Amino acid sequence: MSLLTIRSLVKSFGANTVVKDFDLHMQDSEFISLLGPSGCGKTTVLRIVAGFETPSTGSVEIDGQNVTGLRPNQRKIGMMFQSYALFPNLTVAGNVAFGLKVSGVSASETTRRVDEMLAMVGLSGFGARYPYQLSGGQQQRVALARAIAPRPRVLLLDEPLSALDAKIRVALRGEIRAIQRELGITTLFVTHDQEEAMAMSDRVVVMNGGRAEQVGTPDEIYNRPASRFVAQFIGALNMLPATLRDAATGMVETPIGPLSLERSLPQSNGTALTLAFRPESLRLIADGEALPPQNFSGRLMTREFLGAIVRFRAEVAKDLTLGIDCFNRTGETLPQIGHEVRLGIPAQEILVLN
Ligand SMILES: Nc1ncnc2c1ncn2[C@@H]1O[C@H](COP(=O)(O)OP(=O)(O)O)[C@@H](O)[C@H]1O
Ligand SMILES: [Mg+2]
Repeated sequence: MSLLTIRSLVKSFGANTVVKDFDLHMQDSEFISLLGPSGCGKTTVLRIVAGFETPSTGSVEIDGQNVTGLRPNQRKIGMMFQSYALFPNLTVAGNVAFGLKVSGVSASETTRRVDEMLAMVGLSGFGARYPYQLSGGQQQRVALARAIAPRPRVLLLDEPLSALDAKIRVALRGEIRAIQRELGITTLFVTHDQEEAMAMSDRVVVMNGGRAEQVGTPDEIYNRPASRFVAQFIGALNMLPATLRDAATGMVETPIGPLSLERSLPQSNGTALTLAFRPESLRLIADGEALPPQNFSGRLMTREFLGAIVRFRAEVAKDLTLGIDCFNRTGETLPQIGHEVRLGIPAQEILVLN
């Protein structure tokens, strides 16, 4: 049974419909991210699940119970936001204890649970401090401890890492995920950061204009994007205009020459298509290496050294450049800007965008 079910959710503010026919079935202990550009409706979905907004139509069920009409404090959810929403006048321990006091947990049990939660987020011994005495990352750890202390059925996180420095953000996302796994708590996480969503989630919901464009594992979303929007939103993408020559064998004509997609296509011959592939799908062929079946030439225009990866752009036809990502391996020399290179693209890595 699904632990959190969102059915046919619609939300309008006046004439503006910001959530459109949104469905989601979350399994127990699952970690799902809502990913999409600013304004696509992520926070609105989360606030409806939490009970801070009423849906125009549709329902929310937690553990088989329809909670659509319940107040937030009747839903057994924990929440954490981007801004450090700690109570500034309460100590760290007071903040973590807050939800426990509200739900009538005894004083001794509260003390025990606060200590346990602070240990879990790596802040043992910080109980007597005030929020202003903590760094941003520490404040978010306290916010997490406060959210999970009452043992909610569902944890809702709205961009909890966005305000933090890059290094702390990456460290904390790993910690949140580890704690979520340890507690087995069903978690709905909102972010506009695709790397964060991919790194943390069991499944990702890519949202666009209030709709779920695709729901899938990070691997599915990245390697088999269901729409042009998803393909472009997730990761870097090269695009190539093409004309379909033979639908049965997948032969196409492109500005870099004929290519075979090695599969039949549903479109009719003569149709204009957009092909797409990732920068890491392009192979830079070394001098003297055997040429793969689909190869073409390009001139390297830019070269960015990113550490693990070297990212090139090559001009492969008039007004057409493609990105190429190569691993930076010891002992391999990569070409310099201005060089003519041969590039290869495996047929199975070419997507056809709708
Ligand atoms: N209380 C509200 N009243 C009117 N419009 C709102 C309200 N809350 C959100 N919106 C609008 O709904 C859309 C989606 O907002 P939101 O869910 O916050 O998006 P996201 O979290 O993906 O950035 C935006 O266009 C926003 O302006
Ligand atoms: Mg938001």
